[in-house]
Amino acid sequence: NDPGPEWAAEVRRLAELRGATLLAHNYQLPAIQDVADHVGDSLALSRIAASAPEDTIVFCGVHFMAETAKILAPEKTVLIPDARAGCSLADSITADELRAWKAEFPDAVVVSYVNTTAEVKALTDICCTSSNAVEVVASIDPDRTVLFLPDQFLGAHVKRVTGRQNMHIWAGECHVHAGINGDELSAQATAHPDADLFVHPECGCATSALYLAGEGAVPAEKVKILSTGGMLDAARETGAREVLVATEIGMLHQLRRAAPGVDFQPVNAKASCRYMKMITPEALLRSLRDGTDEVHLDRAVADAARASVEAMIAIGT
Ligand code: 13P
Ligand code: SF4
Repeated sequence: NDPGPEWAAEVRRLAELRGATLLAHNYQLPAIQDVADHVGDSLALSRIAASAPEDTIVFCGVHFMAETAKILAPEKTVLIPDARAGCSLADSITADELRAWKAEFPDAVVVSYVNTTAEVKALTDICCTSSNAVEVVASIDPDRTVLFLPDQFLGAHVKRVTGRQNMHIWAGECHVHAGINGDELSAQATAHPDADLFVHPECGCATSALYLAGEGAVPAEKVKILSTGGMLDAARETGAREVLVATEIGMLHQLRRAAPGVDFQPVNAKASCRYMKMITPEALLRSLRDGTDEVHLDRAVADAARASVEAMIAIGT
């Protein structure tokens, strides 16, 4: 439901009054994406949060993303319109579980996807996102064991691309991406033989996409395993008229804006993240009016977590 131009004008007025910049993840509702100052993937938004001149950041995304903004910009006020917007992937490992895993491999380098809590990041050597996970793991001394968490599908993708054997992978998953399965992908790829396939590495079907390419069922150059930001770059460059998209369906809005001449279709039209969609138009208005929900972090946890996020940013990808 489009909340309309009056809602958008009120959001902009209140944002200006508060001196706030509005950031929206690519999976947000279209109206939220359209009213935001910046839309992007988790890495791009973290960087913008750190460098934005405004003192207040309103993060339209899920809680770990707003936390990452606060970690990088501790002096700023960071608001998330609904603090209940969690992430099933971030919930798949706790700080205590990571402590126990590290005790089993005391010399290992811990690589955590940004989809983790601040407490988990504080126990991490270097973070990564889906757009730089391969480069981050490749930057680590090949003789050191790597503990990669929490996403098993992203971990398998990184292991395949880097060829690294001394890498242990946590068995976590995102309920939305794990649910985009290989059968759906092969059925769609067969029905649309000329389409490109854009697949997020968190998907349960990422392996199937490569299998289809390996079997010659789909030309290998048509299969692209990409972060949400990488999908936008690929959309602008694709020569295909049709693209099958395996990720959360909010992504389709930015893809259609980036390349209006291409027909983007979801591999699974039900792949919607209920946490991302908790940031409703009403919640955004309330947040701007009342200054809710503010993100607070323990200073020591934030400082330790910052080192792991900055180590990732230093890789420069
Ligand atoms: P991106 O880093 O590709 O934006 O993905 C974040 C996310 O939550 C994927 O589900
Ligand atoms: Fe978390 Fe999955 Fe939602 Fe992304 S789509 S925020 S990984 S639950």
